[in-house]
Amino acid sequence: MNKSPIILGIETSCDETAVSIIQDHESGVPKILSNIVSSQFDIHKEFGGVVPELAARSHVEKINLIAKKALDESGLNINKISAVAATAGPGLIICLSVGLNFAKALASSLNVPFIGVNHLEGHALSPKLNANINYPYLLLLISGGHSQFLSVNGLDNYTRLGTTIDDALGEAFDKTAKLLGIEFPGGPKLEKFAKKGNPNKFNLPKPIINKGGCNLSFAGLKTAILRITKNIKLDQEKYDLAASFQKTIEEILHVKTEIAFQEFRNINSTKKSNFIIAGGVAANDGIRKKLSEVSKKNNFVPIFPDLKLCGDNAAMIALVGLEKYKIKKFDSFDLIASPRLALDKKAKFLKGSGLVY
Ligand code: KG4
Ligand code: ZN
Repeated sequence: MNKSPIILGIETSCDETAVSIIQDHESGVPKILSNIVSSQFDIHKEFGGVVPELAARSHVEKINLIAKKALDESGLNINKISAVAATAGPGLIICLSVGLNFAKALASSLNVPFIGVNHLEGHALSPKLNANINYPYLLLLISGGHSQFLSVNGLDNYTRLGTTIDDALGEAFDKTAKLLGIEFPGGPKLEKFAKKGNPNKFNLPKPIINKGGCNLSFAGLKTAILRITKNIKLDQEKYDLAASFQKTIEEILHVKTEIAFQEFRNINSTKKSNFIIAGGVAANDGIRKKLSEVSKKNNFVPIFPDLKLCGDNAAMIALVGLEKYKIKKFDSFDLIASPRLALDKKAKFLKGSGLVY
């Protein structure tokens, strides 16, 4: 086995075609040799959301070019690749299949192992691309499709502490943005609107704030926003609503994070632990500041991935590939895409407020 393995990672689970090449390093933090992400915002924005068929077609058109770009940028000869890793799920099945099939063909032609990766595990481990972080750590994963608190105990070893019972946080940002007339994906722009508004103008609900442990719920918030947007017209009112939404989210995360801290400490006996905030919504400046404050107050060390590693990327997929390569956890070419893959496989499916007690 190569002493400093080099992994080529591929990500096509949704609307980003991404390829990255990373190399193991003695410091424990792998070197990112290239990390190319091609987003499809322009294709989907007129539909207000991702259209699976268009996304898959675009992946097919671009994957070869993006892989070539990643290879050129790394300066490597293709024969130096030790293994090829690709997202196997969760995500849109026809999109996942494009990356998986490309990865299998490449691995087969290079005669190197092929490794299927859980996209969520990519987000969960992503801060390890910036720093050497030991297990266990507490993770808040906030993306367009998921919102979960987890104890990350090791590779493929997770204990879910809380999850959303309805919408994901990124989805709540995108839906609120849409109601305010902001084009898809609205999360980052909504944050900019919020900076121009009065956060105390609208009093919004905080669903299940006093029950359900560190489980989360955002659907009621969206309904309240829908009601308010029917009666507002001025730009300043939209800024105020965005600011009130941002503040409410920060308050919900504040309360739920403190509960998660307690639950994490109940199962891990560490005095000072790392708290990783990952996924697309971890790019939100206000959330970063609020969760940094809350962490310090509770003796946790807050860690955020680099901004370019918060959203979907292939470096995080290559990273999981690298960890699996080191323990020779390879997959056969029979592996198929799984639209639903969890991190904690024992955790119950929790959807609907009736399930929170
Ligand atoms: O992790 P990600 O790139 O894709 C998924 O796996 O879902 O997350 C995308 C989500 C979108 O909902 C997007 O609006 C949201 O992350 N997002 C943000 C910000 N940047 C991205 N939400 C709030 N504030 C931001 N600055
Ligand atoms: Zn993601």
